[in-house]
Amino acid sequence: MKMLIVANWKMNPVTLEEAERLFDSISKEIKGLGQESIVICPPFIYLQQLLTSVNSKKIAFGGQDCFYQEKGAFTGEISPLMLKTLGCQYVIIGHSERKKYFQETDEIVNKKLQLVLKNRLKPILCIGEQARDAFDSQGKSVNEMSLVVGEQLERALSGISSGRIIDVAIAYEPVWAIGTGIPCLSDDAMKAALFIRKILTNLYNRSIADRVSILYGGSVASYNVIDYTKAAGMNGVLVGGASLNATEFIKIVKKVYEVS
Ligand code: PGA
Repeated sequence: MKMLIVANWKMNPVTLEEAERLFDSISKEIKGLGQESIVICPPFIYLQQLLTSVNSKKIAFGGQDCFYQEKGAFTGEISPLMLKTLGCQYVIIGHSERKKYFQETDEIVNKKLQLVLKNRLKPILCIGEQARDAFDSQGKSVNEMSLVVGEQLERALSGISSGRIIDVAIAYEPVWAIGTGIPCLSDDAMKAALFIRKILTNLYNRSIADRVSILYGGSVASYNVIDYTKAAGMNGVLVGGASLNATEFIKIVKKVYEVS
Protein backbone atom coordinates (compact mmCIF):
# COMPACT_ATOMS: atom_id res chain seq x y z
CA MET A 1 0.00 0.00 0.00
CA LYS A 2 1.36 3.42 -0.91
CA MET A 3 2.36 5.56 2.07
CA LEU A 4 0.27 8.68 2.54
CA ILE A 5 1.66 11.78 4.21
CA VAL A 6 -0.97 14.36 5.03
CA ALA A 7 -0.13 17.92 6.09
CA ASN A 8 -2.84 19.59 8.14
CA TRP A 9 -1.95 23.27 8.28
CA LYS A 10 -4.99 24.03 10.48
CA MET A 11 -5.61 27.82 10.76
CA ASN A 12 -2.08 28.70 9.54
CA PRO A 13 -0.29 30.67 8.18
CA VAL A 14 -2.01 34.05 8.41
CA THR A 15 -1.20 35.44 4.95
CA LEU A 16 -1.43 34.07 1.43
CA GLU A 17 2.20 35.10 0.83
CA GLU A 18 3.38 32.93 3.70
CA ALA A 19 1.23 30.05 2.51
CA GLU A 20 2.72 30.32 -0.97
CA ARG A 21 6.24 30.46 0.44
CA LEU A 22 5.68 27.38 2.57
CA PHE A 23 4.13 25.52 -0.32
CA ASP A 24 6.91 26.50 -2.75
CA SER A 25 9.62 25.31 -0.37
CA ILE A 26 7.85 21.97 0.06
CA SER A 27 7.11 21.40 -3.63
CA LYS A 28 10.65 22.29 -4.75
CA GLU A 29 12.13 19.59 -2.50
CA ILE A 30 9.47 17.01 -3.34
CA LYS A 31 10.29 17.24 -7.05
CA GLY A 32 13.63 15.50 -6.56
CA LEU A 33 12.19 12.61 -4.56
CA GLY A 34 10.54 9.33 -5.63
CA GLN A 35 6.93 8.17 -5.64
CA GLU A 36 5.52 10.10 -2.74
CA SER A 37 1.85 10.62 -2.03
CA ILE A 38 1.57 13.90 -0.24
CA VAL A 39 -1.65 15.66 0.62
CA ILE A 40 -1.58 19.31 1.65
CA CYS A 41 -4.61 20.57 3.56
CA PRO A 42 -4.31 24.36 3.83
CA PRO A 43 -7.06 26.71 5.02
CA PHE A 44 -9.87 26.82 2.41
CA ILE A 45 -9.02 30.40 1.49
CA TYR A 46 -5.61 29.39 0.05
CA LEU A 47 -6.70 26.29 -1.85
CA GLN A 48 -7.46 27.91 -5.18
CA GLN A 49 -4.15 29.77 -5.39
CA LEU A 50 -2.07 26.76 -4.35
CA LEU A 51 -3.96 24.43 -6.66
CA THR A 52 -3.18 26.60 -9.66
CA SER A 53 0.52 26.82 -8.78
CA VAL A 54 1.10 23.09 -8.22
CA ASN A 55 3.19 21.40 -10.89
CA SER A 56 3.72 17.98 -9.37
CA LYS A 57 1.49 14.93 -9.50
CA LYS A 58 3.00 13.83 -6.20
CA ILE A 59 1.11 16.55 -4.34
CA ALA A 60 -2.63 16.38 -3.89
CA PHE A 61 -4.84 18.80 -1.99
CA GLY A 62 -7.48 18.35 0.63
CA GLY A 63 -9.91 20.39 2.68
CA GLN A 64 -9.66 20.34 6.48
CA ASP A 65 -13.39 19.82 6.81
CA CYS A 66 -16.62 20.20 4.82
CA PHE A 67 -20.36 20.32 5.38
CA TYR A 68 -22.84 17.48 4.88
CA GLN A 69 -25.02 19.23 2.29
CA GLU A 70 -24.09 19.95 -1.32
CA LYS A 71 -25.35 23.56 -1.39
CA GLY A 72 -27.87 25.94 0.12
CA ALA A 73 -28.45 28.29 3.04
CA PHE A 74 -25.63 27.13 5.33
CA THR A 75 -23.72 30.29 6.17
CA GLY A 76 -19.98 29.86 6.42
CA GLU A 77 -19.89 26.29 5.17
CA ILE A 78 -18.04 24.63 2.27
CA SER A 79 -19.45 21.55 0.54
CA PRO A 80 -17.63 18.44 -0.71
CA LEU A 81 -18.90 19.26 -4.20
CA MET A 82 -17.15 22.66 -4.02
CA LEU A 83 -13.89 21.03 -2.95
CA LYS A 84 -14.16 18.45 -5.70
CA THR A 85 -14.93 21.08 -8.34
CA LEU A 86 -11.93 23.11 -7.24
CA GLY A 87 -9.61 20.14 -7.77
CA CYS A 88 -9.23 18.67 -4.28
CA GLN A 89 -8.94 14.91 -3.95
CA TYR A 90 -9.13 14.56 -0.18
CA VAL A 91 -10.88 15.98 2.85
CA ILE A 92 -10.24 15.54 6.58
CA ILE A 93 -13.38 14.55 8.45
CA GLY A 94 -14.06 14.49 12.19
CA HIS A 95 -10.81 16.02 13.40
CA SER A 96 -10.78 16.20 17.21
CA GLU A 97 -10.56 20.01 17.04
CA ARG A 98 -13.86 20.01 15.10
CA LYS A 99 -15.34 17.87 17.86
CA LYS A 100 -13.92 20.04 20.64
CA TYR A 101 -14.62 23.54 19.30
CA PHE A 102 -17.61 22.91 17.02
CA GLN A 103 -19.39 20.13 18.90
CA GLU A 104 -19.20 17.71 16.00
CA THR A 105 -20.78 14.39 16.88
CA ASP A 106 -20.20 10.94 15.39
CA GLU A 107 -23.57 11.31 13.63
CA ILE A 108 -22.44 14.52 11.93
CA VAL A 109 -19.16 12.83 10.98
CA ASN A 110 -21.16 9.99 9.44
CA LYS A 111 -23.30 12.39 7.38
CA LYS A 112 -20.18 14.17 6.12
CA LEU A 113 -18.53 10.89 5.24
CA GLN A 114 -21.56 9.77 3.21
CA LEU A 115 -21.60 12.95 1.14
CA VAL A 116 -17.82 13.07 0.69
CA LEU A 117 -17.83 9.54 -0.71
CA LYS A 118 -20.83 10.30 -2.93
CA ASN A 119 -18.80 13.18 -4.41
CA ARG A 120 -15.83 10.86 -5.04
CA LEU A 121 -13.49 12.65 -2.66
CA LYS A 122 -11.27 10.58 -0.40
CA PRO A 123 -12.05 11.17 3.26
CA ILE A 124 -9.39 11.07 5.96
CA LEU A 125 -11.50 10.02 8.92
CA CYS A 126 -10.03 10.97 12.30
CA ILE A 127 -10.69 8.89 15.39
CA GLY A 128 -8.96 8.69 18.74
CA GLU A 129 -9.40 8.60 22.49
CA GLN A 130 -9.21 11.72 24.72
CA ALA A 131 -7.12 10.30 27.52
CA ARG A 132 -4.28 7.86 27.72
CA ASP A 133 -5.18 4.37 28.96
CA ALA A 134 -5.36 4.47 32.73
CA PHE A 135 -6.54 2.59 35.83
CA ASP A 136 -9.84 3.16 37.60
CA SER A 137 -10.27 3.67 41.36
CA GLN A 138 -10.26 -0.13 41.88
CA GLY A 139 -6.97 -0.40 40.01
CA LYS A 140 -8.65 -2.04 37.00
CA SER A 141 -7.21 -1.11 33.61
CA VAL A 142 -9.49 1.19 31.59
CA ASN A 143 -8.78 0.73 27.94
CA GLU A 144 -9.78 4.13 26.58
CA MET A 145 -8.44 3.40 23.12
CA SER A 146 -10.56 0.37 22.36
CA LEU A 147 -13.68 1.78 24.04
CA VAL A 148 -13.61 5.10 22.22
CA VAL A 149 -12.09 4.09 18.91
CA GLY A 150 -14.43 1.12 18.45
CA GLU A 151 -17.52 3.22 19.12
CA GLN A 152 -16.39 6.17 16.98
CA LEU A 153 -15.54 3.93 14.07
CA GLU A 154 -18.78 1.96 14.13
CA ARG A 155 -20.86 5.13 14.30
CA ALA A 156 -18.87 7.00 11.65
CA LEU A 157 -19.02 4.07 9.24
CA SER A 158 -22.71 3.33 9.68
CA GLY A 159 -24.23 2.78 6.22
CA ILE A 160 -20.89 2.99 4.38
CA SER A 161 -20.79 0.14 1.87
CA SER A 162 -17.92 -2.28 1.33
CA GLY A 163 -17.39 -0.74 -2.12
CA ARG A 164 -16.79 2.68 -0.54
CA ILE A 165 -14.83 1.93 2.62
CA ILE A 166 -11.64 1.26 0.65
CA ASP A 167 -11.57 4.94 -0.35
CA VAL A 168 -11.51 6.01 3.31
CA ALA A 169 -8.19 6.57 5.08
CA ILE A 170 -8.57 6.19 8.83
CA ALA A 171 -6.34 8.44 10.90
CA TYR A 172 -5.77 7.18 14.43
CA GLU A 173 -5.09 10.35 16.38
CA PRO A 174 -5.05 9.98 20.17
CA VAL A 175 -6.26 13.40 21.31
CA TRP A 176 -3.74 13.52 24.15
CA ALA A 177 -0.92 13.32 21.59
CA ILE A 178 -2.14 16.14 19.32
CA GLY A 179 -0.04 19.28 19.55
CA THR A 180 1.39 18.20 22.90
CA GLY A 181 4.82 16.92 21.86
CA ILE A 182 3.89 13.66 23.64
CA PRO A 183 3.60 11.16 20.81
CA CYS A 184 2.03 7.74 21.19
CA LEU A 185 4.42 4.81 21.73
CA SER A 186 4.89 2.77 18.57
CA ASP A 187 3.61 -0.37 20.34
CA ASP A 188 0.43 1.43 21.32
CA ALA A 189 -0.01 2.77 17.78
CA MET A 190 0.40 -0.77 16.48
CA LYS A 191 -2.23 -2.04 18.93
CA ALA A 192 -4.60 0.67 17.72
CA ALA A 193 -3.98 -0.23 14.05
CA LEU A 194 -4.64 -3.92 14.74
CA PHE A 195 -7.76 -3.03 16.70
CA ILE A 196 -9.03 -0.84 13.86
CA ARG A 197 -8.46 -3.66 11.34
CA LYS A 198 -10.33 -6.03 13.63
CA ILE A 199 -13.34 -3.70 13.74
CA LEU A 200 -13.18 -3.31 9.94
CA THR A 201 -13.07 -7.10 9.58
CA ASN A 202 -16.19 -7.39 11.73
CA LEU A 203 -18.00 -4.66 9.81
CA TYR A 204 -16.86 -5.81 6.32
CA ASN A 205 -14.41 -8.69 5.88
CA ARG A 206 -10.73 -9.44 6.24
CA SER A 207 -9.67 -8.70 2.69
CA ILE A 208 -11.48 -5.33 2.70
CA ALA A 209 -10.01 -4.50 6.12
CA ASP A 210 -6.53 -5.16 4.76
CA ARG A 211 -7.05 -2.67 1.93
CA VAL A 212 -8.00 0.31 4.10
CA SER A 213 -5.19 2.80 4.83
CA ILE A 214 -4.60 3.49 8.50
CA LEU A 215 -2.57 6.60 9.38
CA TYR A 216 -1.17 7.84 12.67
CA GLY A 217 -1.39 11.45 13.81
CA GLY A 218 -0.32 13.28 16.98
CA SER A 219 3.04 15.04 17.48
CA VAL A 220 4.60 13.39 14.42
CA ALA A 221 8.09 14.72 13.70
CA SER A 222 11.13 13.59 11.72
CA TYR A 223 12.66 11.93 14.79
CA ASN A 224 9.66 9.64 15.41
CA VAL A 225 7.89 9.17 12.07
CA ILE A 226 9.32 5.75 11.29
CA ASP A 227 8.11 4.49 14.66
CA TYR A 228 4.71 4.63 13.02
CA THR A 229 5.31 3.91 9.35
CA LYS A 230 7.76 1.09 10.01
CA ALA A 231 7.55 -0.23 13.57
CA ALA A 232 3.78 0.18 14.03
CA GLY A 233 2.90 -0.78 10.45
CA MET A 234 0.84 2.33 9.71
CA ASN A 235 0.19 3.28 6.07
CA GLY A 236 1.14 6.90 6.59
CA VAL A 237 0.92 9.89 8.89
CA LEU A 238 -1.18 12.98 9.49
CA VAL A 239 1.13 15.84 10.44
CA GLY A 240 0.00 19.05 12.11
CA GLY A 241 2.56 21.42 13.66
CA ALA A 242 5.58 19.91 11.91
CA SER A 243 4.01 20.46 8.49
CA LEU A 244 4.32 24.24 8.94
CA ASN A 245 8.08 24.03 8.81
CA ALA A 246 9.13 23.08 5.25
CA THR A 247 12.53 21.71 6.28
CA GLU A 248 11.06 19.51 8.98
CA PHE A 249 8.20 18.35 6.78
CA ILE A 250 10.59 17.33 4.00
CA LYS A 251 12.68 15.44 6.55
CA ILE A 252 9.54 13.53 7.52
CA VAL A 253 8.80 12.72 3.87
CA LYS A 254 12.36 11.54 3.28
CA LYS A 255 12.36 9.33 6.36
CA VAL A 256 9.12 7.66 5.32
CA TYR A 257 10.33 6.89 1.81
CA GLU A 258 13.80 5.74 2.83
CA VAL A 259 12.24 2.86 4.67
CA SER A 260 9.08 2.03 2.74
P1 PGA B 1 0.16 17.70 15.58
O1 PGA B 1 -1.33 17.68 14.98
O2 PGA B 1 1.04 16.98 14.58
O3 PGA B 1 0.50 19.15 15.71
O4 PGA B 1 0.12 16.97 16.88
C1 PGA B 1 -1.83 16.54 14.36
C2 PGA B 1 -3.26 16.77 13.96
O5 PGA B 1 -3.97 17.51 14.64
O6 PGA B 1 -3.73 16.22 12.96
